[in-house]
Amino acid sequence: MDFIEELRTLKEQLMFEHKFNVPKTTKNVVIAGMGGSGIVGKIFTELYSSLPVYLVDDYSAPDFVSKETVYIAISYSGNTEETVSSLQEAIRKGANTVAITSGGKLLDMSHQRVVIPKGLQPRSALGYMLTPLLKSFGAVQQHEFKEAYDLLSRIDANHHEEEQIAHDIYVSEKVPVIYGVPPYKAVAYRWKTQFNENSKILAYSGSLPEINHNDTMALKGTYRRDEFYFIALTDGRNNTVERRIGITENITGIKFRRIKVEGKSALARVMAAVHIGDYITYHLAKLRGKDPLDVGVIEELKERLQESTGTQ
Ligand code: PA5
Repeated sequence: MDFIEELRTLKEQLMFEHKFNVPKTTKNVVIAGMGGSGIVGKIFTELYSSLPVYLVDDYSAPDFVSKETVYIAISYSGNTEETVSSLQEAIRKGANTVAITSGGKLLDMSHQRVVIPKGLQPRSALGYMLTPLLKSFGAVQQHEFKEAYDLLSRIDANHHEEEQIAHDIYVSEKVPVIYGVPPYKAVAYRWKTQFNENSKILAYSGSLPEINHNDTMALKGTYRRDEFYFIALTDGRNNTVERRIGITENITGIKFRRIKVEGKSALARVMAAVHIGDYITYHLAKLRGKDPLDVGVIEELKERLQESTGTQ
């Protein structure tokens, strides 16, 4: 499957019906994952806050983990060494464990598992990995999936604006800096990682209002300011943050390329925001003559680690 076909499967992935059991005694939730699998937990926390959710992107499990913790290890391959090690530690601590994976070592380690289809790039399987979380925790209502499906279909049918933005970045050779307004903070980071892995360029992300307490100082006078392509990812619903964007532009003199996400439900808007970034980074890869599927350097790094430690 080529990359654009992978992108087109995202809407169907939202119809994935597999769930896991969340015991009523659950006090907290940990989600462990790296890269294209790690982004799942980050996006989940933008849509769910009924229980405390702690994210892990390294080898360990937090001290508080106990039998009242639901510990979810997400790895598309099932073999990422940080995630495997973190799950092993959670098992030792007695957590109630879940694996979301297409195979690999994770499959046989946890109490419960959600097995997702193989054959995609991990970052293209976002829907398969996110939907079981949303459904198991009842984080969104059923109709939101349908709405998200419809919105993604529209983007699949028409991504000219995304192509235009990719073209602007390509001809200007600027470095994208993406600032997300809640609930698009994680999506801004997703865009950064998609620019890295799909388009093979560096990119940076941050969130509003947080950047008003740090980046803002540099926006006015940093050297090479003209070499950045500033993007504000928003839905226009939060007047206070919208005012901040305007005032930030006014004080610093930078101009954001505003991406205003439409859609009724939060899930639909978040998924649409993800998909817009997917297409921009895909088009930029094509313009640069890069293969968006290629993650050769990441794979080589994993292989070399395996040679030296016997893991991936
Ligand atoms: O997008 C990618 O290919 C990477 O970011 C991977 O997701 C990352 O290396 C972790 O691998 P996995 O998703 O198999 O755990």
